[in-house]
Amino acid sequence: MSQSILVEREQGLLSLRLNRADKMNALTREMYAALADALEAAEADREVRAVLIAGNAECFTAGNDIHDFLQHPPSGPDSPVFRFMRALMEFSKPVLAAVAGPAVGIGTTLLLHCDQVFVARGAKLKMPFVNLGLCPEFGSSFLVPRLLGHVRAASLLMRGDGFTGEHAVALGLANEALADGAAALERAREVGLGLQALPPAALALSKRLLKAPYMDELRRVVAEEGELFVQRLSSPEALEALSAFTQRRQPDFSRFA
Ligand code: COA
Repeated sequence: MSQSILVEREQGLLSLRLNRADKMNALTREMYAALADALEAAEADREVRAVLIAGNAECFTAGNDIHDFLQHPPSGPDSPVFRFMRALMEFSKPVLAAVAGPAVGIGTTLLLHCDQVFVARGAKLKMPFVNLGLCPEFGSSFLVPRLLGHVRAASLLMRGDGFTGEHAVALGLANEALADGAAALERAREVGLGLQALPPAALALSKRLLKAPYMDELRRVVAEEGELFVQRLSSPEALEALSAFTQRRQPDFSRFA
C-alpha cells in the first residue's frame, strides 16, 4: 500500500486518507492504484460497512498530479485513475467524504459519487477542466447539470468557477458545512460509525435503487469523457496550460483559434 494513502479501520468504517501534504495531496498513479485496491478489497470484505475518503485538516486534494498528466497520462481503461473511478462509482456500500481546503478537479468530481459529504465552510472546490485545456471527467458533464441545471453547471464546468464549502451545501453537492476541516472529519466519522447500526443489505439495496435510474447512462458518459479527456491531454491547449502550471506562469491561449 502506498504511503500516500493511509488506510485505517474503526469498527466497520474504513478510512482512506490522502497523505501527500507537501504536494497538496495531488493524486499520482500510485495513489489511484492504492485507492482502487483498497475499495476493491473493501467491497469484498464483509466487515467493512462504509468507507470514508478524506485528506487532512487543511487540504482534500489539488486533483490529479499535473506532472503525471504530462509524463504518464492514463492510456486505457485499466489505467489506475479509471480503475479508481470504476471502483468508487460501482461501490455498493455507503461512501462518505470529509473535505477541507482545496478540492480541485477530481477532488470535486469524486464527491458526486459519494453518499454523504461533509465540508469545511471555507473549503475551496473547483473543476477547472476547460482552464487546463481539458474537458469534464468522472461523469461530471452528466451529474452536475442533472443536479444544478445547465447554466449553473456551465459556470462550474465551462468557466471553472470555484466555490466554497458553504456554497457546495447550497448547491446540493454536500450535506453539511462545518467550522473547519477537523470538524468536517469528525462529523463524517460520526455519521459513518452511525451507519453501522443500520441493516447492511437494506442499505446496499437502497443505494443501488437510488442510483439505478441513471447508472447505465453514467457508465456511458464516464467512458466517453475518459476517452476525450485522454485525447485532450496531448492537445496543444492542454500542453500550454499544464506547462504553465509547472513553470509557475499564466497560460497564454491567444495563439489558438
Ligand atoms: N499536481 C502536481 N503538483 C501540485 C499540484 C498538482 N495538481 N497541486 C499543487 N502541487 C504542488 C505544487 O507544485 C507545489 O509543489 P512545490 O512546493 O514542489 O513547488 C506544492 O504542491 C504546493 O502547491 P502551491 O501551488 O504552492 O500551493 P498553494 O496553496 O499556493 O495553491 C492550489 C494550492 C491547489 C490552489 C494550487 O496548488 C493549484 O492550483 N494546483 C493545481 C490544481 C489543478 O489544476 N489540478 C488539476 C485539476 S484537473
